[in-house]
Amino acid sequence: MTSRASASAPTFVSPFARLNDLLEGIAPGAAAINLTVGEPRHAVPAIVAPVLASAIADFGRYPPIKGTDAFRAAVAAWLDRRYGLDGAIDPATMILPLNGSREGLFYAAIEARMTCSKAVADPVVLLPNPFYQAYAAGCTAAGATPVMLPADSSTGFLPDLEAVAPELLDRAIACYFASPANPQGAVASLDAWRTLIRLARQHGFFLFADECYSEIYRLTPPSGVLEAAKSLGGFDHVLAFNSLSKRSNLPGLRCGFVAGDPAFIRRWTGFRNMAAPQVPLPIQAVAAAVLGDEAHVEDNRRLYNAKFEAAERMLSPLFGNITPPGGFFLWLDVARFGGGEAVTLKLWREAGVRVVPGGYLAATDDTGHNPGDAYIRLALVDGLDATTEAFARLVGTLA
Ligand SMILES: Cc1ncc(COP(=O)(O)O)c(C=O)c1O
Repeated sequence: MTSRASASAPTFVSPFARLNDLLEGIAPGAAAINLTVGEPRHAVPAIVAPVLASAIADFGRYPPIKGTDAFRAAVAAWLDRRYGLDGAIDPATMILPLNGSREGLFYAAIEARMTCSKAVADPVVLLPNPFYQAYAAGCTAAGATPVMLPADSSTGFLPDLEAVAPELLDRAIACYFASPANPQGAVASLDAWRTLIRLARQHGFFLFADECYSEIYRLTPPSGVLEAAKSLGGFDHVLAFNSLSKRSNLPGLRCGFVAGDPAFIRRWTGFRNMAAPQVPLPIQAVAAAVLGDEAHVEDNRRLYNAKFEAAERMLSPLFGNITPPGGFFLWLDVARFGGGEAVTLKLWREAGVRVVPGGYLAATDDTGHNPGDAYIRLALVDGLDATTEAFARLVGTLA
């Protein structure tokens, strides 16, 4: 193991439950503005209601675990348009619907454990740190040891797998890798994806690419793991997870998909048919329609980008360049103001602004270091007015 990878087990207390405990009994210093949960609050696309209404009778049927042909065709067509895949993703064998990407990310680790061809007595799963909780839950359910890879300023806010000892990579059954990353908004280049894919194949682990923020970006569309895999000649060991939650402001629809390695997907379909939630047929109909429309996605990006422009204008005097290339979070280093927890308390008590201490989104490593401790996370999911009001209060409180 490199000196910085850590096998400390992450906790399973929700960051939001910890935040509630931290702020318990403390009155907000002004009318509350909540920047905590990454739940999009822009409008639900207009197309949703009529499509749902026309498919209502299908709530009377059990959905097939594989999804409908129309759903898988819509996903394949969207992936083609987005990543220039020229039909390389076969909708019949390389796509599955998910009840949001979260459950897929969780169950995938169990499949990796069952399916991984190498015999490993003490398997590990590689996770970024900070990390999305479902990765750690999947790792635990698979009976594997989590290896937390720091994703901080020294690594460009993405995990550096090339710095991990080969013997540890040999024990890995899976690696979770998010781009754009939550909370940092860092984005993997095509070359970075290629390096990850080569390592996954060389050491025989599955690469689970969490791309649910792929459509929330500032200027340049982030490259995807599937285009990198295609350029390397195929999709084995590579799975891309995405959903309608962030792209289309539909976190409550609970609809996502996985695409990639056909052998993994074939085996996983069998397991999911016994264990996983199916996606209701009317929901698949809505998702297929929404994937066919980019106008609402462009509007959505414009709304997020206006908030990031306001952030850059108002907060850069205090924090320097803060605009991440992707995602809808600000990840602010508040070490010189007392660190994430102290600043969270201060912002709530003095200004009514509710944020998440970065340390609650990360695990403490073997040396006692938590790569999130110096940070706060702000989700820019509210309207422009409320968001800029929160920035003004933050400046007033910390400056
Ligand atoms: C990094 C990351 N991955 C996955 C998800 C899961 O999203 P969903 O299940 O809505 O697709 C989230 C949700 O916030 C997330 O932040």
